[in-house]
Amino acid sequence: MFGRVKPLDAIIATAEKKSLHRSLGAFQLMLFGIGCVIGTGIFVLTSAGAQKAGPGLLLAFAIAGGICIVAALCYAEIAAIVPVAGSAYTYTYATMGEFLAWTVGWSLVLEYAVAASAVSVGWSGYFSGTILNEFLGIHLPAWLSAGPLALGGAPGGLINLPALLIALLVTWLLMVGTRESAWFNAALVAIKVTALTAFVVLTLPKAELVRFNPFLPAGVFGGFGTGVGAVGAAATMFFAYVGFDAVSTAAEETKNPQRNVPIGLVGSLVFCTIFYILVSAGAIGSIGGQPIMGPNGIPFPAGSEELARQCALPEYSEYLVCSNEALAHVLRVIGFGTVGNMLGIAAFVALPSVILILLFGQTRIFFVMARDGLLPEKLAQVHPKWKTPYVVTAITGVVVAVAAAFLPVGRLADISNAGTLYAFTMVAVSAMILRRRMPDLPRKFRAPALWLVGPATIVGCVFLFVNLPLPAMLVLPVWGLAGMLVYFGYARSHSHVGLGKVEVHEADYADIEPDIPGIADRGRD
Ligand code: ALA
Repeated sequence: MFGRVKPLDAIIATAEKKSLHRSLGAFQLMLFGIGCVIGTGIFVLTSAGAQKAGPGLLLAFAIAGGICIVAALCYAEIAAIVPVAGSAYTYTYATMGEFLAWTVGWSLVLEYAVAASAVSVGWSGYFSGTILNEFLGIHLPAWLSAGPLALGGAPGGLINLPALLIALLVTWLLMVGTRESAWFNAALVAIKVTALTAFVVLTLPKAELVRFNPFLPAGVFGGFGTGVGAVGAAATMFFAYVGFDAVSTAAEETKNPQRNVPIGLVGSLVFCTIFYILVSAGAIGSIGGQPIMGPNGIPFPAGSEELARQCALPEYSEYLVCSNEALAHVLRVIGFGTVGNMLGIAAFVALPSVILILLFGQTRIFFVMARDGLLPEKLAQVHPKWKTPYVVTAITGVVVAVAAAFLPVGRLADISNAGTLYAFTMVAVSAMILRRRMPDLPRKFRAPALWLVGPATIVGCVFLFVNLPLPAMLVLPVWGLAGMLVYFGYARSHSHVGLGKVEVHEADYADIEPDIPGIADRGRD
């Protein structure tokens, strides 16, 4: 089971078929990174983060950002050796064998698909609040704008229709082969960064120190399984950084990767970390961000029925922790309604591209797993005209849309984080195993101090994982168990490696290979 290792040579040969131009500089890499990363995390989850940690949210962003930076270095090293589809899944296949690779691929479903659901729900908040309510004067009834209370939605909620529809729309765009062009990605990055800069410029001057007191109303550690406190918030806000791994395969087509990859990947994460801290300081400093405490002195869990009931009370209507469109809400409360609406439009325009990137990543991982024989090959069927794996895209999109229709954003983000943290851990382990086993393999990028950075990634990821709320933590083993059933029931006996087939794919490769978001128009030799 552990012996079924995919030969690295075959993987590299497959990658070489691509022969991409080395055309990317550090700045472009940064743009791609920022395009994937800034999304629902900062625009929406800021409320959930404040409910967990109060002003300690600033610390939470710093902790999560630091862990992502070390993880990014491991990702970059291994992606520079194995720059092919399926990222973490493929890396694990080449180092630790099929079974663990399967668990990684399976947990990446949580990362990408569930994150796509979370961003759809985040988008829905801005769509309902800014576009429908502020501009069109349409007030969507509660039963159409949130999931049911029993699952953590708003009182009276039944289904989040906008979230369902945007997920389906993006799925359709992907099925017909939509890719973002470089300029489109750059434009969206500019919109997001402008909106957040305006937010910082308008809110920080209104910040008052007293609003940061108490700084840690729920402590640093809120207690195992509660998901509160500064580290509980870090475990949730980790979501705000997810997505940079989608760009890790860019290492292969970067000019002077040894210099540009760390600058690009780490640079975009450092940029986001600083930005996130400034934005949350502006939000909390200007209108306050203390959590709503339960009777036991612990904040009500974000995304819980109890919190939804409290937020429905008039006295909490202006609380940051109750808003579905956190940043626009802050601007409206401090008297910049028009800018608030413009920020709402920025989120409305830019978040679908994050959904697209995540869904894209998900379908390509399934595609590679199906091509390896671990999932039914029918899933990898490519549409003759659209040249996309349309079957797997459609199935994934429908599941993502249904999850978005019924579950609240904070819960979805936590579940997504659980899967991502597992995958990041395995990437760090793979990077270290490859260094030990094949020290002389040409590496287009070597992570500095891997023997510090690798263990730091593992410890950081495990640390964040155990600070997630208990239900999110439990999703991983339960999902893993389901994965085990599929593995032993189907995948193991159909595996191409298990059957002794070693393949180097080429024919359909150029069309199906996961593109780095925003560089669909990159050149190929
Ligand atoms: N990091 C991405 C976001 O916050 C997934 O939306």
